[in-house]
Amino acid sequence: MKNREAFKDADAFQKHIEGYFGVEFIEEAHTAAQNFSKMMAYYRCAMMEIETKFNVLNEEFSLRLDRNPISDIKSRIKSMFSIKEKLQSRGLPFTLKAMEENLHDIAGVRVVCSFPEDVYTLADALLKQDDIKLIERKDYIQNPKPNGYRSLHLIVTVPIFLAHEKREMRVEIQLRTIAMDFWASLEHQLRYKKEFAFTEEMADELLACANLSAELDARMDALRNCVQLDKK
Ligand code: GTP
Ligand code: MG
Repeated sequence: MKNREAFKDADAFQKHIEGYFGVEFIEEAHTAAQNFSKMMAYYRCAMMEIETKFNVLNEEFSLRLDRNPISDIKSRIKSMFSIKEKLQSRGLPFTLKAMEENLHDIAGVRVVCSFPEDVYTLADALLKQDDIKLIERKDYIQNPKPNGYRSLHLIVTVPIFLAHEKREMRVEIQLRTIAMDFWASLEHQLRYKKEFAFTEEMADELLACANLSAELDARMDALRNCVQLDKK
């Protein structure tokens, strides 16, 4: 069949594709795509559970502290293309099993806090909840990366309750202050500008900016402490 005729209507198109790939292959591909969509829906649910937990904590802490510890919550799901690339780069097959077992950051929640102390208060409050299991904790605030990157990273599992089953899903949580988020966003933009080579001088300058942002956080935290002590 000529290509032009194949695209004439839906039936002709289906016949053309079936003739090309075989009915069995198409059915298998369809099932695989459905299973992948289902898994991504589970990750979206887990992300919503974590967001809600932080929104609830924000409400409670704002009553107690008279200010909001959370300035912003940003969530994202890894794209199918990025999932495939990451698995391939590690020599793993593009299967649901490999995804679930090896990738921790398919669902990601970033919590931007007002002050450094809020990062730890919120992380502790979340980890105390009996349905949250901690898989990994990386404290890049206590131990910043050599380039100056700071944030508290938690990999947790959270249960999602479906009609007939309960599933534990992994979520990557990044907690950081506004200053840390400002630095990380701009660093990411600069580092991934394809047209420009990233020089050593630029890396040094970014590290100096990271140190400035850490000093800003420390000074703001000291101010917060004075105000809070004053209120007591
Ligand atoms: P990934 O394979 O990227 O997930 O690395 P990893 O498993 O070693 O995790 P790591 O905790 O180092 O980083 C996870 C995420 O933190 C990244 O996907 C970024 O969102 C963020 N991140 C880590 N390092 C940097 C950095 O140097 N700059 C910026 N802007 N973000 C970073
Ligand atoms: Mg990652």
